[in-house]
Amino acid sequence: MGPMPQNGTVAVTGSAGFIGGWIVRTLLDKGYRVRACVRDANDGVKTGFLRAMPGYASGRLTLHSADLDKAGCFDTIFKGCQGVAHVSHVSTYNDQDYVQKVYDHIINSINLSESVSRVVVTSSIAAVIGETDIQELVRRPVCDEDRYPDETNPQRSAKGGQGYSIGKILLERAFADAAEASGRWDAITCCPGDNVGPILATHQKEVGPWQHNVETMLLGQYTENVIGAYRPWWTVDVRDTAEAHVRMLESEKVKNGERFIAWSTDSREVDDVCASIDRLLPELGFAGGTKVDPFPAPIQARKAEFQAAWGGCELRNERIRKTLGMEFRPLDTSLRDCVESLLVHGVNVKTQ
Ligand SMILES: NC(=O)c1ccc[n+]([C@@H]2O[C@H](COP(=O)([O-])OP(=O)(O)OC[C@H]3O[C@@H](n4cnc5c(N)ncnc54)[C@H](OP(=O)(O)O)[C@@H]3O)[C@@H](O)[C@H]2O)c1
Repeated sequence: MGPMPQNGTVAVTGSAGFIGGWIVRTLLDKGYRVRACVRDANDGVKTGFLRAMPGYASGRLTLHSADLDKAGCFDTIFKGCQGVAHVSHVSTYNDQDYVQKVYDHIINSINLSESVSRVVVTSSIAAVIGETDIQELVRRPVCDEDRYPDETNPQRSAKGGQGYSIGKILLERAFADAAEASGRWDAITCCPGDNVGPILATHQKEVGPWQHNVETMLLGQYTENVIGAYRPWWTVDVRDTAEAHVRMLESEKVKNGERFIAWSTDSREVDDVCASIDRLLPELGFAGGTKVDPFPAPIQARKAEFQAAWGGCELRNERIRKTLGMEFRPLDTSLRDCVESLLVHGVNVKTQ
């Protein structure tokens, strides 16, 4: 139980993804051995960028196929690892029995390994602020690690749109409880904000969702934030999210069940995000984008109410700064680097 040893071995689930890819790269840069878990290690499109990392050439980075819908898929991969970063999404968050089953079999593989001492699980700010009733944010506006959504609201359900938030809280508790029961390992939670920053591979521009939103801005059209209706972007640089995960794997100060929010506390309206692109990169000649509001009329009618609630929230990141010594890049840096990476990966900007 406790932090990974220096130069130890870490398994990272979701390694082909935006955050997982950056965690792999950060771990390699710090000298660790990495077992990158992807759904299909033979998928050249999704794993090419991992194979291009120098650690792959030497064998310090290895790739492993694991479809987490198949129980036992991590049994052999986790054996011999001291750390696990469970970053991957699940196939759906709307079926809690399925979600629980996936967590159970991952936990089982950790227990079977007899070598894992520290696990970091990737939750989300949805597990902090994902309210069914927006007025709950007016009643409790301080957004820090001790905040959970109102779980007693009878409307809170996957059908009501809270599946992701419910699934992430289930993740945090399932791993912390199992770690305590095992006595051999501990589980720490990272709740990232809205990740912006450079993509590492072309396929990552289609997911996100934030880098995909930046892509659509560059192409000339973008939408209101649909993840929290009319919420400003509450961002973190993907490289800082990765660094935070690694520090949680390494730290001697963290305790089982502890959670850390990873965000810069920058807050920017979606229109200002789009307008920032020309301010940050005038050389591009970016023509700007047209905003689309995809919400049905009853939600549109409540726009001012939503905006007032989000505007009254107080974003905090003291715990992660103090315990892990984290500093966060400003959104301007994340956005500039995100745009430039999208250009490298073939996005054609709409110019004036
Ligand atoms: N991006 C954000 O702003 C943000 C914010 C808060 C929290 N998070 C959390 O951070 C984690 C990573 O997010 P991300 O943005 O990096 O997502 P991403 O780029 O979509 O990567 C997620 C990865 O999960 C893998 N995955 C999904 N279902 C799988 C399955 N059945 N078996 C194996 N792998 C599976 C995907 O593999 P394939 O590529 O093979 O499909 C993908 O590589 C997620 O847990 C997410 O909830 C993200």
